[in-house]
Amino acid sequence: MGSGIAEVCARSGVDVVVVEANAQRAERSRAAIERSLDRAVRSGKLDADERPVVLERLEVTDTLDDARGADAGIEAIVEDEQAKREIFQRLDDLLPDAEWLASNTSSVPIMKLAAATSKPDRVLGLHFFNPVPVLPLVELVHSIMTSQDTLHRVRAFAEEQLGKTCIDSQDRAGFVVNALLIPYLLSAIRMYESGFASREDIDRGMVLGCAHPMGPLALSDLIGLDTLQAVAVSLYDEFRDPAAVAPAVLNRMVEAGLLGRKSGRGFYDYTS
Ligand code: 3HC
Repeated sequence: MGSGIAEVCARSGVDVVVVEANAQRAERSRAAIERSLDRAVRSGKLDADERPVVLERLEVTDTLDDARGADAGIEAIVEDEQAKREIFQRLDDLLPDAEWLASNTSSVPIMKLAAATSKPDRVLGLHFFNPVPVLPLVELVHSIMTSQDTLHRVRAFAEEQLGKTCIDSQDRAGFVVNALLIPYLLSAIRMYESGFASREDIDRGMVLGCAHPMGPLALSDLIGLDTLQAVAVSLYDEFRDPAAVAPAVLNRMVEAGLLGRKSGRGFYDYTS
């Protein structure tokens, strides 16, 4: 999702430093952005002349120090609370003058990340949806320490700069959308696991019967099964609702490295 967020920011005119974990990921991220821009040009959403201008605004690196001096930061690393806390600590040191620091976390309470910094009032959740260039929503999540000024600035950035629509959420695991969506996806996986219906019929049922753009198993593959599992754990930690327990088959698939589209295989095969 990080590359999708970077693309949307750069297309709106913002200079972006995209920091990836290593050189290989940096290369993959740049290639993903280029492919997505090609798609936007093909579908007439971006002028061909704009493509090089957008790419010029993007610096893709594997060194966090390259972001020094940025006006703001958006973290979009793996759904691992400890790893996110460490990034927030480092951003706090690296960007003492940044106006705000946001997390694109799917479910980790924002207060846990804000508490890793020296200025929790400038930390909030800015949660995008996949694919970021297509889906218009962002969730604004304020912790009990987020200042009104931070909320106001980030809302203006999301709406006026990026052209997204904001909804507001309290700082509860899953926020609004994932608190509703993830138990539904887990129910579909349980239905598949128990042999109740085939994966194709479960997906077809929700596409044709409820006009969803994609079925729950295909959507789980798009989100990434490791992310889905991590969100389930956060939801269960917070609410102790059995509907948020990750089904065994999901756990086994994650252990096997079957993570959905990003690994080539999940509930469906994407290799051919
Ligand atoms: N990047 C950029 N653009 C993309 C894209 C991508 N990865 N995938 C599709 N698009 C664009 C296409 O270019 C096309 O644009 P056009 O209409 O201008 O030609 C448009 O989206 C439709 O794409 P397609 O015709 O190729 O395919 P579909 O009509 O099947 O749409 C989809 C694909 C946009 C993925 C659609 O199925 C969809 O919206 N699915 C639901 C996705 C969803 O629910 N996302 C939320 C997940 S939850 C989440 O992200 C939160 C996290 O915390 C877990």
